[in-house]
Amino acid sequence: MTLNQKIENWLSAHKYASTRAQRPFVTLSYAQSWDGSITSRAGVALTLSGSEATRLTHQLRSLHDGILVGIGTVLSDDPQLTVREWSGANPQPIVLDSHLRMPPSARLCQHVDKHCWVLTGLAEGKALGNHVDIITLASDDEGRVDLCAALSLLWERGIKMLMVEGGGQVITAFLKAQLVDALVLTVAPTLVGGYKGINNLGITCKSRLPQIRPLNSQMLGDDLIMWGDLNYQQQAVL
Ligand SMILES: NC(=O)c1ccc[n+]([C@@H]2O[C@H](COP(=O)([O-])OP(=O)(O)OC[C@H]3O[C@@H](n4cnc5c(N)ncnc54)[C@H](OP(=O)(O)O)[C@@H]3O)[C@@H](O)[C@H]2O)c1
Repeated sequence: MTLNQKIENWLSAHKYASTRAQRPFVTLSYAQSWDGSITSRAGVALTLSGSEATRLTHQLRSLHDGILVGIGTVLSDDPQLTVREWSGANPQPIVLDSHLRMPPSARLCQHVDKHCWVLTGLAEGKALGNHVDIITLASDDEGRVDLCAALSLLWERGIKMLMVEGGGQVITAFLKAQLVDALVLTVAPTLVGGYKGINNLGITCKSRLPQIRPLNSQMLGDDLIMWGDLNYQQQAVL
């Protein structure tokens, strides 16, 4: 069985076995260097994956109902978030953008078959064209889009499997909120010494760190693919 088939089977099992109510199953997937960098510095686009790992990313997109990134990634990478190197439907593109910094010229604002959903904390809209739905949600304590409110809305709109692609702030926020169910990580054979994918999770005790179990790994071209389920340690009862 190929790596692509293994990962598809593993995700499909989650799709049908997931018992979580009222929010999508969340798969976190991104590429990093061996030192954990996702780019050289925030705001700079740096391609780390080889061609086969890129195809795997497109396959993963095709297996999810929605794909979510932060506005930082839109501003630096101007991604399309479509399935181009695999066969399958495009997932629903979703952007976390508390202050509507999305430029109308972004490629996501010209999406051909699905209107991009821009989740914001602002009540007053901004013109982003006919291919964008601006959705106002509650903000968290830091004035950012509240992730639980976002996932609840996505669930109501039919997003049962959600892929989160980055960048660093969004990855960290989802992990900190314990909202990631599965991880598919591409590790490229390079050292960058740059901007990390995961930053401070606010956990100092080893026994409370999220664990990836069971952990699977396999080479794909020059890249190492690691995947598994996220397990969160129980908080100690005080
Ligand atoms: N290697 C990879 O696989 C990969 C993947 C993706 C991105 N990247 C790289 O990552 C970099 C971008 O990362 P980044 O950390 O600067 O930006 P990011 O995580 O893409 O977006 C962060 C922004 O999202 C908004 N946001 C809204 N609600 C949020 C919430 N609840 N939690 C967190 N953020 C929320 C915030 O801006 P507002 O407060 O204005 O809403 C925040 O500044 C780029 O250089 C890109 O190339 C790499």
